[in-house]
Amino acid sequence: MSDLAYVEGKFVPLAEAKVSVEDRGFLFADGVYEVIVAYNGCPFKLPEHLARLQRSAAAIRLPLPKDANQIQRIIQEGIRQSGFQNTKIYLQITRGAAPRSHPFPADVKSNFIATFRAKGEVPQETRKEGVSVITTEDIRWAKCYIKSVALLPNVLANQKAVEAGAFEAVFVTSKGVVHEGTTSNIFVVKNEKVLTPPRTEKILHGVTREALLQCARDAGYETFEHTVTIEELLQADEVFLTGTTIEVLGVVKVDGKTIGVGGVGPVTKQIYARFRQLIES
Ligand code: PDD
Repeated sequence: MSDLAYVEGKFVPLAEAKVSVEDRGFLFADGVYEVIVAYNGCPFKLPEHLARLQRSAAAIRLPLPKDANQIQRIIQEGIRQSGFQNTKIYLQITRGAAPRSHPFPADVKSNFIATFRAKGEVPQETRKEGVSVITTEDIRWAKCYIKSVALLPNVLANQKAVEAGAFEAVFVTSKGVVHEGTTSNIFVVKNEKVLTPPRTEKILHGVTREALLQCARDAGYETFEHTVTIEELLQADEVFLTGTTIEVLGVVKVDGKTIGVGGVGPVTKQIYARFRQLIES
């Protein structure tokens, strides 16, 4: 088993993978990405991830250098060669390497890279006990539905969470509207109703979020995609985060305030159990 990269059309050990210092992803964050997890060699929700990659690329007018079938073959081969049981796959496409100048370079091929590493597991203890989060003002740009590599506000907010001893920072507007975490979507449970912020341009349309909404409905809960306020978040019975790598993670504290009775709630547990069944199937 070994960390692997796919660069310039070839698989190489990750430590040997290199891109140009003039890559526009490096100079301008001029690129998009995806994070996908493969369980037992099988990429979870691959068509959904590839469709979002296509949407992100189209939104920044970046031609994808490979079609979905080609990307799928690279992913399968990367999983096979890296040999991990559960693999974290990272795809990044940038507008290629060219002398630094803001407009799109003429006749430059976009740069497709992929990496394959072991999927880290959330410690059992953390999963059982839940996590705390902080809130932070959403200072990001207007098009957060694009999975762009320009993640500086997310990096700064996530670091703020780490320094506060929290697992995640949740972006909230100055008017108190809750958007999402720095690497996750957020759900609120109130009176057995499951709420999550709507699919606007202000949040990433999470693949896990979508699957979770379906799991919640399958479990018999009513779901609502509508604006969630900071008051609703603080007064929720349960709060949880969703994302490709964390799956579903209960939140027990927001800005130091205990949510519900202070443990991972029964609705969260039930919906997560459904989600695990989906993964297994
Ligand atoms: N992040 N919101 C943001 C801002 C994210 O970066 C992510 C995922 C999500 C959840 O989306 P999904 O369920 O499709 O993974 C929501 C990935 C994992 C990352 O940047 O590492």
